[in-house]
Amino acid sequence: MERILIVDDEAFIRENLERILREDQYGATCAGNGTEALALLQESSFDLVFLDLRLPGLSGLEVLKKIKESAPDLLVIIMTGYASVESAVEALKMGAYDYIKKPFKADAIKLIVKLALETQSLKREVERLKKQNEGIFSSKPFIVQNPAMKILLEQVREVARHSDTTVLITGETGTGKDLIARTIHSLSPRADRPLIEVNCATLPENLLENELFGHESGAFTGAKGRKIGLFEAADGGTLFLDEMGELKPELQAKLLRVLEDKKIRRLGGAQLRAIDVRIIAATNQDLREAVKTKRFREDLFYRLHIVPIHLLPLRERPEDVVALSKYFLAEYSKKFFRNFKGLSKEAMDLLLAYRWPGNVREMRHMIERICIMHDAEMLIPEHLPKELQGSPDSAPASLPFYFPIPEAGLNLDEIVDRFTLHVIEKTMAMTEGNISRAAKLLGVPRGTLRYKLSKYGIDS
Ligand SMILES: Nc1ncnc2c1ncn2[C@@H]1O[C@H](COP(=O)(O)OP(=O)(O)OP(=O)(O)O)[C@@H](O)[C@H]1O
Ligand SMILES: [Mg+2]
Repeated sequence: MERILIVDDEAFIRENLERILREDQYGATCAGNGTEALALLQESSFDLVFLDLRLPGLSGLEVLKKIKESAPDLLVIIMTGYASVESAVEALKMGAYDYIKKPFKADAIKLIVKLALETQSLKREVERLKKQNEGIFSSKPFIVQNPAMKILLEQVREVARHSDTTVLITGETGTGKDLIARTIHSLSPRADRPLIEVNCATLPENLLENELFGHESGAFTGAKGRKIGLFEAADGGTLFLDEMGELKPELQAKLLRVLEDKKIRRLGGAQLRAIDVRIIAATNQDLREAVKTKRFREDLFYRLHIVPIHLLPLRERPEDVVALSKYFLAEYSKKFFRNFKGLSKEAMDLLLAYRWPGNVREMRHMIERICIMHDAEMLIPEHLPKELQGSPDSAPASLPFYFPIPEAGLNLDEIVDRFTLHVIEKTMAMTEGNISRAAKLLGVPRGTLRYKLSKYGIDS
């Protein structure tokens, strides 16, 4: 039921208006002067106000000004006698929605209220849709084709809607933990409130504590003034605690308390403050293992582990290697005005065989680099960095081998030596002198390569 506040000093007008509005099922409340009206507005929320301009004490215009300051979207309809049309115009300039002359007819009142409320709800709807779209467009799309990851994304959507549920996101570096955290926030009812990210690994323990909880002035030497912590700053929204596995024991204990009580205390403060935040934690460590070795508190682990979201490494989702490489290629090709239309089968095979230690981030950067350095219709193996071309997981490449045997015959040992030298030199150049990588590429133990390097007198 829409709630309407009637502000007029004449009881007859108030009662008349109230009766008309109730006939149309609106909830009406009356105030005889401005002060009373403002008190009512503070106590509860209204959808519309009928405001008389000539009031004893606080004038109608003054009341209007105060309303617009504290509730700019609240609809105000001015009531005015014939003599004061000018001040009605003044009121419109100050943000009143419309005005109506006294004496008024019931039908006119009903119509003006209906139109005003309809406009209001349309406006609110537009605002809501705008926010929703901002939420969707501000977070980058999460590309998935892998069946297990698709199921996971459904879980993400589900958990997003439950605005209080704690989420723990795990996965190797670059698998998309940040992106998932942002997606959860932007699909949640908290989307129009802040999402605050804290990296638990980058700050030393005491600074982190100060960042998270804030402090009262004089809490410690150098603590000037009051400081609001990130928990308070995120109130109503989401706090994203990244690199959770790095949290020191003392802070683990404090965090556990916050998660249980939903209350925080500023450093040096006496008062406990209630906070309303959703916690999303992320880590690329194996927290279970950390619990076993006592680096991570078991009780905190279970408190976080309510909805675990584990992102698979990229090498375990071939469907996503295909989808993501095409997606990034299209994106960067456009960005750098290139003509890439797709990847050749051979190039795709190399991507599929690669280990992707840096996961999606590594792939994104690699394709960006390719688009900066090359241009073609097809991305082919030659465009790919060496570590992919010589990937130990892919089938060993065979070398073109053409060797004319001289009439006079030859010395096999010498030929083999020369050939070995040539291949090792090339490989060392390719890996820029990195012996481990060269050994891998050649399929020999590191020690063997070292021995041959010294035998052939190659500097490394
Ligand atoms: N499924 C995906 N679709 C599109 N882009 C993705 C996807 N997964 C990851 N990315 C992109 O890969 C990059 C790395 O992702 P993100 O920063 O979320 O990883 P992370 O798991 O938080 O890594 P770290 O552990 O190093 O913090 C980002 O640019 C992100 O947008
Ligand atoms: Mg991250």
